[in-house]
Amino acid sequence: MVNRGLMGATGLQFRHHMIGPKQSNSGPVMSDISNLKSKILQQVAEAADLDALEATRVAAVGKKGEVSLMMRGLGKMSPEEKKIAGPALNALKNEINSALAARKAGLEDAALNERLRTEWQDVSAPARPVGQGSVHPVSQVTEEIIAIFADLGYGVAEGPQIENDYYNFDALNIPPEHPARQEFDTFYMHRDEGDNRPPHVLRTHTSPVQIRHMEKHGVPCRIIAPGRVYRSDYDNTHTPMFHQVEGLAIDKDISMANLKWTLEEFCRAFFEVDNVELKFRASHFPFTEPSAEVDIRCSWQGGQLKIGEGDDWMEILGSGMVHPKVLKAAGVDPEVYQGFAFGIGIDRLAMLKYGIPDLRAFFDSDLRWLRHYGFSSLDMPNMRGGI
Ligand code: DAH
Repeated sequence: MVNRGLMGATGLQFRHHMIGPKQSNSGPVMSDISNLKSKILQQVAEAADLDALEATRVAAVGKKGEVSLMMRGLGKMSPEEKKIAGPALNALKNEINSALAARKAGLEDAALNERLRTEWQDVSAPARPVGQGSVHPVSQVTEEIIAIFADLGYGVAEGPQIENDYYNFDALNIPPEHPARQEFDTFYMHRDEGDNRPPHVLRTHTSPVQIRHMEKHGVPCRIIAPGRVYRSDYDNTHTPMFHQVEGLAIDKDISMANLKWTLEEFCRAFFEVDNVELKFRASHFPFTEPSAEVDIRCSWQGGQLKIGEGDDWMEILGSGMVHPKVLKAAGVDPEVYQGFAFGIGIDRLAMLKYGIPDLRAFFDSDLRWLRHYGFSSLDMPNMRGGI
């Protein structure tokens, strides 16, 4: 540091004056003061930045600075010398301090101006992208299904995920000893010891909503009931929690033909292909008679699924004409009313439509997966292929 070097040399020189033999007149002291003054004021004027200015300040008026040392020397002067040197040193100190303050203000202004010159914002630059959440494929597909069925005149019904035995099984014509109860891999809710009431279950399907809806709102009705269902099962096409959508249409003259048309229209709209082909395969469900499982024509080429062409068939849903016992359980006269019901796996539809290979990843909450397969919240549920 140049300043400190200079100061060191001059400091010594002044100390010599101060503690040396007393001067007979004030001449040399006054000339020392005036030399020091011009030297320090020059240093102040030349300080290139705030750091250099601070070093100058410490070297001049700091505790061990040159001016301070000279002031300390006052005690050893004769009263006459003191009379002259004292006020002169005070004046010097004041002058230096105000020079320092002025220079400091000047340097700060310059520093600010430099910042203003170099740190600028391009207000026309595009904003940084803000991370947005995405819509889960299950939510997206659920919205698509609701939109398609809304066009067909269907409302949306809901039921509880913790069901009782009666709605999940009995009312759907699945009595306690029925083998279908075993097939469902049901989760039973905990019961306290000694509580012999039938246990509650996590609903194994959305079919109980059929009963609840008809009980509460009567018939005729046309509803779908999307929601979560639970079964104790886990592999790459099964998770313990998954999603179904139930369909129910009851009126006086609803037939299997209406069921077929409805499901074909739905698949056409959902998969966005005009030439969907469905195969109704005779099956059995306790709550429908007759019952049919429905397969859709598709092809797998290079691991890619195409709907509506090829030689493969993929099962997508279960359906049938609602069993008279089910209508009766819901308080509906089966002599007057009849209709169809169906149950579709929502997750499976999402896998098929969007080419997602592993069901388990749906519920892992892996952000990378969600960003890849998720949908923008501004996407409209796809209705192409209109009804
Ligand atoms: N509840 C059935 C299941 O989870 C699916 C089902 C089949 C629902 C036929 C229906 C139906 O409404 O008619 O396996």
